[in-house]
Amino acid sequence: MAVLLLAACGREPASDAPPAAVRQQVEEAIRALDALRAGLARTITAGETIDAATFNRVCRPVGQQARQLAETNGWIVQQLAVKYRNPAHRPDSQAAALFARFEADPSLDSLWVRATWNGTPGWRYLRRITVRPQCLACHGPRDRRPAFIVQNYPEDRAYDFRPGDLRGLYSVFVPDSLLQTSF
Ligand code: HEC
Repeated sequence: MAVLLLAACGREPASDAPPAAVRQQVEEAIRALDALRAGLARTITAGETIDAATFNRVCRPVGQQARQLAETNGWIVQQLAVKYRNPAHRPDSQAAALFARFEADPSLDSLWVRATWNGTPGWRYLRRITVRPQCLACHGPRDRRPAFIVQNYPEDRAYDFRPGDLRGLYSVFVPDSLLQTSF
């Protein structure tokens, strides 16, 4: 039994995903992050004035929670979008190629790939961000964007979405150096 166990532990991780413990931790954290935004978006009421305060309440806490996850775990956590609002969220070449796959295949919810971050090898998790009806208050028709968005985001491309559209991708990079502790 001990021998079998050793053999199992010494095995290389499966080539299509990191060890189960890390995989579950990342996937659960991102599921919760997405649920956070969905829950906050549901607090927008019909007829409410949509302004910077709405953003501070709905979309902003998601970015803050993403930064918190990164700090706590040593991951790189991003929200990336081809049609971005904040140019800092423009996808890198690997994410852009994967974005096209998510766009072409609506049944693709998430995936793991090998990646390098500034020369450091590791695993990268990408998960679909879907547009919900409430998102349209700020990501809907171009001409109906709240004034604070038009003013603050001159490069904005994150409009004209419809419910169900691919809005972006959550991306989590986990360096290999963190994996040992998970065994
Ligand atoms: C009250 C306005 C508002 C609402 C409602 C809103 N967002 Fe946003 N969203 C913004 C703003 C402003 C930004 C830019 C944030 C920044 O500067 O990083 C943003 C950024 C994003 C980003 C980061 C990528 C990018 O384009 O910069 C994603 C992903 C996103 N929103 C998804 C959603 C989804 C999904 C919903 C609905 C569940 C939603 N948003 C609802 C205002 C909003």
